[in-house]
Amino acid sequence: MRIAVLGSGPVGTALAKGYTRHGHEVRIGNRTGVAEGFDAGHYADVAAWAELVVLAVRGEVSEELVRGLALELEGKVLIDATNPLDHSTGRPELFVGFDDSLGERVQRAAPGARVVKAYNTVGNPLMVDPDLVGGPPTMFLAGDDDAAKATVVALLEDTGWDTADLGGIESSRHLEAMCMAWVAHGLRVGSWGHAFKLLRG
Ligand SMILES: NC(=O)c1ccc[n+]([C@@H]2O[C@H](COP(=O)([O-])OP(=O)(O)OC[C@H]3O[C@@H](n4cnc5c(N)ncnc54)[C@H](OP(=O)(O)O)[C@@H]3O)[C@@H](O)[C@H]2O)c1
Repeated sequence: MRIAVLGSGPVGTALAKGYTRHGHEVRIGNRTGVAEGFDAGHYADVAAWAELVVLAVRGEVSEELVRGLALELEGKVLIDATNPLDHSTGRPELFVGFDDSLGERVQRAAPGARVVKAYNTVGNPLMVDPDLVGGPPTMFLAGDDDAAKATVVALLEDTGWDTADLGGIESSRHLEAMCMAWVAHGLRVGSWGHAFKLLRG
């Protein structure tokens, strides 16, 4: 699959490396159009080229960036891996929540994109082929388009994940709060190699 990863930070590079290892054709998009070690271009060019797009930029810029790419994203699966984190107090807090979410804002910014919230509840080193005691962790996801979610579930299962669908894009409110639980545990124990797993009876 032709996958564009928008963002060349830790998440963008971890996903780009992992997807490449799994045989996908990958390009990174960012502001300079250059990402060392990867095929890269400006956001709009790689989004237009791709079959599937992953949003992996700073949460504060997600909505505005996606609004500007609405045309390129029309009809495409857009995985939103971003979190609405405000770092200004020194301890990360959500800048949206309870009655809205960044996932919903991203979907509203590009109504023709088929947005699936995923990857936001785990650290980047585990995003592709997580290898943890206790078996595959669970990637929780949300989105309004069932076919888009099926595509993302197939990609996740192929890259080492169990999955759990939380429903429509409004469940991003829960997923973004889960990110805070993941961060709180990391701050408390001082390590970041943990992931959630859903046990089913
Ligand atoms: N780090 C993790 O393990 C982790 C885990 C789960 C979710 N997330 C979420 O994933 C997203 C990416 O996180 P990250 O840790 O990889 O790095 P980040 O520092 O949050 O984001 C880096 C990317 O954001 C882009 N960016 C920054 N300001 C921009 C602007 N004004 N306009 C356009 N692009 C801009 C940068 O573009 P340039 O390359 O052009 O500078 C870069 O590609 C965040 O929303 C984060 O909350 C992170």
